[in-house]
Amino acid sequence: MQFSENLIKKIKSAQNVSVLTGAGVSAESGVPTFRDPGGIWEKFRPEELANFNAFISDPDFVWGWYQHRREIMREVTPNHGHLALAEMESLFNEFNLITQNIDNLHKRAGSKNITELHGNIERNYCLKCRTFYNDIDVSEKKVLKCEKCGGIIRPDVVWFGEMLPEKALSHAENCAKRSDLFFSIGTSAEVYPAALLPLIAKRSGAYVVEINIKPTVMSMDLDEVLTGKSGEILNLLLNKIKEIRN
Ligand code: OAD
Ligand code: ZN
Repeated sequence: MQFSENLIKKIKSAQNVSVLTGAGVSAESGVPTFRDPGGIWEKFRPEELANFNAFISDPDFVWGWYQHRREIMREVTPNHGHLALAEMESLFNEFNLITQNIDNLHKRAGSKNITELHGNIERNYCLKCRTFYNDIDVSEKKVLKCEKCGGIIRPDVVWFGEMLPEKALSHAENCAKRSDLFFSIGTSAEVYPAALLPLIAKRSGAYVVEINIKPTVMSMDLDEVLTGKSGEILNLLLNKIKEIRN
């Protein structure tokens, strides 16, 4: 893949880089995406499961669904895309990774500066007293009760109809505003407010690049689109960045 002169110039001069990732970044690890054929929405209808009312009316069922997803996510490993992003962190003065993924793969790949907009499936907390329970045994198919107060324990992920964690969102917006180079990778850019971030970056003067296997609703509004698998493109991009900046 040939990178454009524009992008190469931006890589040379960039002081502040931000990246937004979505489910596509984990596709090459074997985690199903949401809106692609074969994605989670085809099989499960998460709108019905991933919401507070569903959890309250049948906690064991919703918990079981998360245990199933946790099991999948633990079995897979980070791919070249996650690893390349982790390595990029040290190649720029400031590098912020913002993710919509809950699968914990960026952390496992070694990224440090991660902002999780939609939570993390490895964290859970008691609805009543907010005590956190991480390290969950995936064979526990019934919802867990809090050891301190007996409340039921939910995954620390953002459900339909819920607000995004305020601090994470405002930090992400700030990163978008301050970055001079912004990458939107493996996201359909259809879920707000996360999908606003590339546009905020663009409006604030960043050079915004999309990496995706196919065009999205946002492609036309951005500066450049790199078409292909994120694992492959990010690996090439990492090599280019090292060549330019080392
Ligand atoms: P989607 O499933 O909506 O989009 C995945 C995107 O990844 C699509 O645009 C695909 O074309 C692209 N893609 C698939 N495989 C790829 C690959 N190997 N390389 C590059 N791109 C690839 O997932 P998200 O945009 O992450 O929120 O969805 C956003 C949010 O919707 C999720 O975080 C989730 C869901 O509601 C919550 O659960 C709160
Ligand atoms: Zn409790």
